[in-house]
Amino acid sequence: MKAPDKTRRRFVSLFLFALAAVFLSPTSLWHARSPFWRVPHSDEQPLKAAARCASLALNPGPPPHFHHRTHSDRFDPDTPATLIRNAQIWTGMHNGTEVIHGDILLENGLITAVGRVEESLIQGHKHLKVIDAHSAWVTPGIIDMHSHMGDDSLPELNGAVDYYSPKAVVAPWARTLDGLNTHDLSYELSIAGGVTTAIILPGSAGAIGGQAFPIKLRKTKERNPTSMLLEPPVNINTSFPDNHITPRWRHLKQACGENPVDQFGMTRMDVAWAFREAYDKARRLKASQDEFCSKLSHGETEPGQFPEDLQWEMLVDVLRGKVKVHTHCYEAVDLDQLIRLSEEFQFPIASVHHASEAYLVPQLLEKGFGQLFFYPSSSSLTVPWLVGPKPAVALFATQTRYKREAYRGSEYAPRILAQHGFDVVMKSDHPVMNSRYLLFEAQQAYHFGLPQNLAIASVTTTPAHVLGLAHRIGYISRGWDADLVVWDSHPLAIGASPIYVFIDGISQLSDVHMATKPSSHQKVPSVPNYDNEAAAAVDYHGLPPLEPRKKISGQVLFSNVSACLLSREVSNPPLIETDHPRIVVLVDSGHVQCVGTEDSCPVSGNDFETIDLKGGMVSPGLISFGAPLGTTQILAEKSTNDGEVLNPFAKKVPSILGDGRAIVRAVDGLQFGSRDALIAYRSGVTNAITAPSHEGLIGGLGVHFSLGATHPLRPGAIIRDVAGLHVSVSHSVRGPSISTQIATLRHLLQPDAGVNDDYFAEVTKGYIPLVVEAHSADIIAALIRLKAEVETRIGGTIKMTITGASEAHLLAAELSRANVGIILNPARPFPLTWEDQRILPGPPLSEDTAVSKLLAHNVTVGIGVMESWDARNTRFDMIWAALEAGGKITHNQAIALVSSNIEKLLTGSVSPAGNVDLIVLEGGGLFDPQSKVVAVISPLQHSVDIL
Ligand SMILES: *[C@@H]1O[C@H](CO)[C@@H](O)[C@H](O)[C@H]1NC(C)=O
Ligand SMILES: *[C@@H]1O[C@H](CO)[C@@H](O)[C@H](O)[C@H]1NC(C)=O
Ligand SMILES: *[C@@H]1O[C@H](CO)[C@@H](O)[C@H](O)[C@H]1NC(C)=O
Ligand SMILES: *[C@@H]1O[C@H](CO)[C@@H](O)[C@H](O)[C@H]1NC(C)=O
Repeated sequence: MKAPDKTRRRFVSLFLFALAAVFLSPTSLWHARSPFWRVPHSDEQPLKAAARCASLALNPGPPPHFHHRTHSDRFDPDTPATLIRNAQIWTGMHNGTEVIHGDILLENGLITAVGRVEESLIQGHKHLKVIDAHSAWVTPGIIDMHSHMGDDSLPELNGAVDYYSPKAVVAPWARTLDGLNTHDLSYELSIAGGVTTAIILPGSAGAIGGQAFPIKLRKTKERNPTSMLLEPPVNINTSFPDNHITPRWRHLKQACGENPVDQFGMTRMDVAWAFREAYDKARRLKASQDEFCSKLSHGETEPGQFPEDLQWEMLVDVLRGKVKVHTHCYEAVDLDQLIRLSEEFQFPIASVHHASEAYLVPQLLEKGFGQLFFYPSSSSLTVPWLVGPKPAVALFATQTRYKREAYRGSEYAPRILAQHGFDVVMKSDHPVMNSRYLLFEAQQAYHFGLPQNLAIASVTTTPAHVLGLAHRIGYISRGWDADLVVWDSHPLAIGASPIYVFIDGISQLSDVHMATKPSSHQKVPSVPNYDNEAAAAVDYHGLPPLEPRKKISGQVLFSNVSACLLSREVSNPPLIETDHPRIVVLVDSGHVQCVGTEDSCPVSGNDFETIDLKGGMVSPGLISFGAPLGTTQILAEKSTNDGEVLNPFAKKVPSILGDGRAIVRAVDGLQFGSRDALIAYRSGVTNAITAPSHEGLIGGLGVHFSLGATHPLRPGAIIRDVAGLHVSVSHSVRGPSISTQIATLRHLLQPDAGVNDDYFAEVTKGYIPLVVEAHSADIIAALIRLKAEVETRIGGTIKMTITGASEAHLLAAELSRANVGIILNPARPFPLTWEDQRILPGPPLSEDTAVSKLLAHNVTVGIGVMESWDARNTRFDMIWAALEAGGKITHNQAIALVSSNIEKLLTGSVSPAGNVDLIVLEGGGLFDPQSKVVAVISPLQHSVDIL
């Protein structure tokens, strides 16, 4: 199958990749059920058959005496031993609560000492590398339990989509190893985010998608996919492996729900039958094997050949409890079906993925078939952890609502599931989400209430257990693989970036760039209290009310305010910051009347509400751009969305539309009150600017609107009904060559181009900005040339803004000279396609970020989001951009990235103070992780919304 084009890419991915896994490890149970094999002592053939039969009862796990190893099987002999001194070590032990201040010795690909390292151990080394960590935090390497890295590799090219079989809804024989591209750009970038291990799962197009393989991300000397595998099952290069080897865990990917339904033109009933039919085949094969072995053990002559079938042997191993089954499964209806399947065929589920409704049905998931799994007693080191009987739940932090299945997802799911005793794993589904930022998922889960020990474990220790690899990864302990990360801040502090990454004892980063961070980032961040929100999510079946609790059109007195910023114009901010005494902000009819001491701001009459902000802040609301916020409600559901603008390059545009000369306005398709909009509003994003959704060159007119309004006729709902003329020049656009796309723009910018609502003429008069989505530096350069050409012709200037802009940093000086502004979208770079390859990755790989470099050249810069659910993370993106720039940009500049600059770049001007919605934070300022938006002061709506 060809790679879906990029505009639709993420949406399609969500169909193709969803994964749910259910793993259970019923070791002891299997023992109890297995027959006791009496091996006949006769000729060789029965001996082999007997060994084959005996092997059926072998439990997967580390080989005997694994922890007596002195070298890792992955050790590269050119690796020097390394001593990391003076580190703050999160070991993973004691339920993720143990922190040791001390040293770590790495030798032979293993961790050989932690804490106080004996001098005798150090003295033996001639070439010991010594690193002073200066008390930096160290964690085990990040483990991604849901990745398609290598199989859906970057940049996306036609030959690089190898993550599923489009041929069979059930394909337990398909193996991701067979598609693993060793040149994916993601390996290096994800290592730079601290990721050391990932399991490469098939996509979720099929009900049984195939076999998955854990890999380590580092480059190997062999340069082939097989050498990247971590504990590969012994049958990867032989059909019938040696029967005496302790089997390794195998991994299977399954999917319920919308993806197989859509991909194979089925219904949920068909998908359920596809599962049952496949497992029934496996059950029969298993029964015939057991019967064969039973005959053999009773000394019956001529039992014949051991029954084998290469197509179904994987599922037989599932039924024998030797496979970690990971199932993409979102809704209660699908989880219920999955649990029934596991009961009917008696196999354990290791993990359910995406699982947007798992937190609503915890009792259901507790019913899954399975048994407690204890680490083999033969192991000399035991890990104080059990897996099962419940499946682990692998989640995104906030990515949800993109399809019906995900509509009831909640940011509080990790904490709720943890409270119910589930193992919670945060995962990337890379490249659906860039796994370089997997730790950010854990940071968000922590922010919304997952306890800190479990949050760090959710991307280290917990996935190690779920994958059956906790005997060697996921901990910092003597005898474990030397995979660890030294961080520049506390791992749960936003923007935490690696200083060192070790995989198998090999240092992965050369030439590390560190941003200077505030010392407060060395401590675990404080977080707001979301107990009520979490309870409401469950009470309302995943759809808690999001509208403001109250609208006050009278007086409101905000007290105990420590900072106040009333204008989006950062050049002249009337910023007031005081310690003692704290100030008050008096508001009437949504307008700020007074800022000052309580005495200087008297309230008139008794009819007013007082809100103690506990040292909080008042600030202009943030603006979101880039997602179809306001024109879509559930991305994958057409009936919930405005839809796509007709693409004249793909289809003839009906003459009733003026033969393609009409310009579409997003304002006409606007929908208010979507959950994404309201959640963004509650997170401090008061406005959005949205372009008409388009697959072709021409989008249309953007709209600037309020996310808090209930319908377009309310005062203040529509702030500007024209916010830029939006077009896209890219190969992701369905249309002709890039040069033809540019030629079309040139034509449209001529006088009398014949466009009806002549907004291109408005552009040439300099009234409205031409907003062009473009990614590659070459296309951006062509646009700069086009701008100059038009300006020469008209003898004036036009406004141009480039969005997307992955490679814009390469032209920082030229953009500055041409006075072209940039909205970076996504906010952090990702080389998804050929056009986005030349990113400026930022620390630890480069000192500059695209933001800091463009700003240093005086380019006006904004940052955006790609998808509507992500709008609510705008504040995190702003904080991150500020931190990554390491002091090169001020807080006011960072705020401008997501407010005034967006407004300026898309509308040509910035709303004056007194005319912008202000957000009210309790407990801290905009950049403080513990503060929470509690109200919006809206001069446009003449009221204060209490959230
Ligand atoms: C592990 O930590 C979590 C959260 O802090 C706690 O709820 C749970 O009871 C702990 N588990 C054990 C076995 O101590
Ligand atoms: C088969 O794979 C295993 C596991 O990676 C490896 O140890 C073994 O050397 C391989 N055998 C051959 C013949 O390549
Ligand atoms: C102001 O806020 C602080 C928390 O920052 C709180 O401890 C204090 O009680 C508040 N003062 C008043 C007068 O409400
Ligand atoms: C950016 O603007 C500042 C202030 O106007 C000026 O001093 C500086 O030289 C400019 N930098 C560049 C790279 O143009």
